[in-house]
Amino acid sequence: MKSKYADLKLNIDLNKIEEAANCIKQGGIILFPTETVYGIGANALNKNAVNKIFKAKGRASDNPLIVHICNLDMLNDLVQGIGEIEEKLINNFWPGPLTIIFNRKECVPNNVTAGLETVGIRMPSNKIAKKLIELANLPIAAPSANISGKPSGTKIEDIIDELDGKVDYILDAGMVDIGVESTVVRVVENKVHILRPGKITVEDIKKLGFDVIVEKQVMEECSPNQKVMSPGMKYRHYAPNTKCLLVYSEDENKMIEEINRQIKNIGNVLVLGRTSHLDKYNTNNKLDMGESLEDISKNIFTLLRKVDKYKVSLVIIEGVKKEELGLAIMNRLIRACEHNYIEV
Ligand code: TXA
Ligand code: MG
Repeated sequence: MKSKYADLKLNIDLNKIEEAANCIKQGGIILFPTETVYGIGANALNKNAVNKIFKAKGRASDNPLIVHICNLDMLNDLVQGIGEIEEKLINNFWPGPLTIIFNRKECVPNNVTAGLETVGIRMPSNKIAKKLIELANLPIAAPSANISGKPSGTKIEDIIDELDGKVDYILDAGMVDIGVESTVVRVVENKVHILRPGKITVEDIKKLGFDVIVEKQVMEECSPNQKVMSPGMKYRHYAPNTKCLLVYSEDENKMIEEINRQIKNIGNVLVLGRTSHLDKYNTNNKLDMGESLEDISKNIFTLLRKVDKYKVSLVIIEGVKKEELGLAIMNRLIRACEHNYIEV
């Protein structure tokens, strides 16, 4: 069965958003854009509707969902004990790509939080997402739109094959703005812990005067039974079927040299590199990541979805400096490469 589809790329048709909102009210699930990546949404207060998301994605039931809201009344209905630091984070970064973990109220179903006493909440800034939540007048639970383990969907063309027919409605708004998922934070003992880096950076949060701790698992490997602050950290994520290697050096020339050395040794290789580096690689198989961190953040998930078509023995991916948006990019890339990483 095909999902119902609305093209909002050129024109934001409110009637279509209302149809999708009605679908949410009736317990359906829909694919919708946010500023970070597309989400698969359902009424966060309806346990059965939320179950449909887990089924459509093939998601592990111990991995909790983020709840999307459009105003602070919704927040107060869902959570308790909002501290001063959380308030400042909200005032500075909402609506926007920041998810904050709070203590939940009873009304939040167990499957949304995967049985945890906490719930992740974010207020998206994307116009369509905002309107959708407003019209549904309900909080919307939504993970990234992709089959579990695959890169998150940043445009409908990338995910239509894996999700068509599994959702009731698709709102297509073209390419998203940011391309990597929201920053996930939790405040513990007056410190802001980064559980997943994103567009709101460590540096952005430090500017507010807070102590920031980047959880070890953001860049390091994590065993399946390890206790982590965010269950999502322990799952295989973003990795193509082809083996991938991430290469980085602070010295650009050294990085290019190392990648060329790998190309020479292995032969049948695909390189993902910055625009200005591409003609320096001694292979015909190259994909352009863009130049700025913003470009790379927008492009990586689409690129990772392309690499298996090349039938190469190894994909070599250029790393970036783990600062600002670079930390979020490296967190996704190191997972795509299953921690196969060389720093020279
Ligand atoms: O940008 C985004 O955040 C996108 C869009 C659709 O909003 N959503 C998204 O959802 O990326 P998802 O489900 O793919 O990732 C949610 C992450 C997971 O790593 C999950 O473990 C973590 O947030 N998370 C959710 N609730 C949590 C909680 N109560 N405690 C700790 N981590 C939580
Ligand atoms: Mg995801």
